Amino acid sequence: MHEFKYKRNELYCESVSIKRLAEKYGTPLYAYSRKTFLDHYRKIRSAFKAVNPLVCYSVKANSNLSILRMLVKDGAGLDIVSGGELYRALRAGVSPRKIVYASVGKTEQEIGETIRKNILLFNVESVPELVLINQVAERLGKRQQVAIRVNPDIKPKTHKYATTGHGENKFGIDIDTVKNIFLNRWQYEHLDISGIHVHIGSQIVDARPFVRAIEKITKLVKRLERGGIKIRWFNIGGGLGIIYSGEKPQTAQEYAKAVLPLLKRLGARIILEPGRFISGNSGIFLTKVLYVKEAPRKNFAVVDGAMNDLVRPSLYEAYHEILPVMSRSYASSRRARTYDVVGPVCESGDFLGKDRRFIGLEQGNFLAVMGAGAYGFSMASNYNSRPRPAEVLVDGSRVKLIRRREKYSDLVRNEM
Ligand code: LLP
Repeated sequence: MHEFKYKRNELYCESVSIKRLAEKYGTPLYAYSRKTFLDHYRKIRSAFKAVNPLVCYSVKANSNLSILRMLVKDGAGLDIVSGGELYRALRAGVSPRKIVYASVGKTEQEIGETIRKNILLFNVESVPELVLINQVAERLGKRQQVAIRVNPDIKPKTHKYATTGHGENKFGIDIDTVKNIFLNRWQYEHLDISGIHVHIGSQIVDARPFVRAIEKITKLVKRLERGGIKIRWFNIGGGLGIIYSGEKPQTAQEYAKAVLPLLKRLGARIILEPGRFISGNSGIFLTKVLYVKEAPRKNFAVVDGAMNDLVRPSLYEAYHEILPVMSRSYASSRRARTYDVVGPVCESGDFLGKDRRFIGLEQGNFLAVMGAGAYGFSMASNYNSRPRPAEVLVDGSRVKLIRRREKYSDLVRNEM
């Protein structure tokens, strides 16, 4: 469910006409619905109400400061993966006690900066990293709480780049090594090794792989408990899939129903790290048709948005629905024609959608690429020296510019 709907054949975000947004702020443009963001955040929080979870929104999915602030004000914690995300998180005003930090490659500098801020938990992804965090904590005269990220060797059905809990992935630590870390935790004098973290991948539409991962970890936790080791935090990660086209993902309620019985038995504080579930359908990417180009074997809608703005179609061949901003009666009619929606970047892999049907598509029409709120702007680049787009946040009938469009001077700002 989201707040992008047609009213009298014109696409709206909450009470604001998308066409008006495109005209006022220009294209390409990211537009977000405040209500959809908060609804999704609250949905996951309330589905897990029985265990009073800490929901740490995954900053990488959409890291605009205004978005982070909005979620933090509503009670969210934040899941970060770099010193840059720590900086954003603190600028957004989150309490450091609600920050968790994962990444297979935390640098010594990042570890030091983060320990100084007293965050809740590092999610540790290797033994040498654990050794380094212990050393840095000693040097700083601090005690740091950490969770160990388990690689449960589970392969959910999703894009091959979006699995993270399989034995061949770089993430997390195998179960036997995790057990040994806990048994030898006294070696790490400056750490409080008190949590377990697992994140098996992204855009997972079925609850079963989550259940299997949690079952494996439950066995480990029970074994540790028998040895007198208490797990205080259990972070079950993010990864919940959303609807891009025909998917039928589990709802937050169904997900909670599947995993809560297991979690309740553990008696640990539960952390979740959803990114896409909260932001994915809360945003669209708006673009304008520059040319309609009819070639002998294909029709192209050449638009002003490109792979540098929204890379998911090029990188993962991800499907995003593309809707005409004016008039919804498009695909089914016999008058519809088929187009590849492509950007201006000099690569054949630069497309937003292939073989899409539109009626009477013309130069100057606006198109809305749906489900672009997660891993959209946050993965954007300046490739082809294209300034990155602006971002706006709609709240009812109000619109706030939350990131201005980059200027040409921004492109060379750091160059000597
Ligand atoms: N926690 C950790 C440790 C993660 O690595 C991720 C995402 C999340 C939480 C949030 O996952 P989510 O709930 O959003 O699925 N760029 C790709 C997705 C990469 C996900 C990376 N990790 C895409 O556009 O599909």
